[in-house]
Amino acid sequence: MSLTGKYILITGAAVRVGRAMTLAMAQAGTNVIIHYGSSTEAAQKTQADAAALGVEAYTIQADLNNSEQVNALIDRTAEFGKLFALVNNAAIFDPIDLAETDLEAWERHLRINLTAPFVLSKAFAAHVGKDREGRIVNILDWRALRPGRDHLPYTISKAGLAALTQSTAIELAPNITVNGIAFGAILPPSDGGDPEKAIADIPAGRWADLDEVGDTLRFLLDGPAYITGEIVHLDGGRHLL
Ligand SMILES: NC(=O)c1ccc[n+]([C@@H]2O[C@H](COP(=O)([O-])OP(=O)(O)OC[C@H]3O[C@@H](n4cnc5c(N)ncnc54)[C@H](OP(=O)(O)O)[C@@H]3O)[C@@H](O)[C@H]2O)c1
Repeated sequence: MSLTGKYILITGAAVRVGRAMTLAMAQAGTNVIIHYGSSTEAAQKTQADAAALGVEAYTIQADLNNSEQVNALIDRTAEFGKLFALVNNAAIFDPIDLAETDLEAWERHLRINLTAPFVLSKAFAAHVGKDREGRIVNILDWRALRPGRDHLPYTISKAGLAALTQSTAIELAPNITVNGIAFGAILPPSDGGDPEKAIADIPAGRWADLDEVGDTLRFLLDGPAYITGEIVHLDGGRHLL
């Protein structure tokens, strides 16, 4: 497989969907750099589980709400190896509407969910240069292209990330592709909610299988380099309604 022995940085890789993508990449033979914010123990567990699949696995901590730490992150990965891919997965997701969104919440969502991917994408492009191939995958949400009134600052940050995906796809061609995966119901939020209610409006009538997340990511990292600026919905058709 062409992903074997390459290095990938996944943000928010210690837990949940980020962990699933990390292990899917390790299974494909890719060396993984597991970024985390506060989940130190989980990051070490994901590192051990990835290493058990026979690849190099490293952890790297950075608060994506802190611009100095974001600015330094790509350079800090140089001690592990030359990056082939960056997955901007880390995000926050506060269930707040317009009335509940104060300036602090607005700016925090934009900093973590949009400014950090912007800074990391620029640094990644400089790190890859013009003579190597690279791939960026931004993790979106079906809500990014259908902004509603719920989760207001989150939705706007993901809409911005969709726009960033397309702008950087143009700017970083031809040697770096930039694509997005817009998730639907992948994993229920850890703070509760009714998992049955969450899938009521999904044509596929079910939650995603985590293998489907890994398969989609691998396709965008290992599939045709002629695909760029594309946003693949992995949402069982939710965005169509
Ligand atoms: N779960 C779903 O069904 C679903 C649906 C649609 C879209 N998505 C998107 O898929 C991605 C992963 O979703 P998820 O449910 O796995 O998210 P999650 O459980 O909320 O995990 C968020 C991740 O972001 C990291 N993070 C948050 N704030 C950070 C900060 N200030 N600095 C560093 N890292 C920070 C966390 O790292 P630490 O724990 O180490 O701090 C964690 O790994 C997100 O982009 C989300 O918007 C998910």
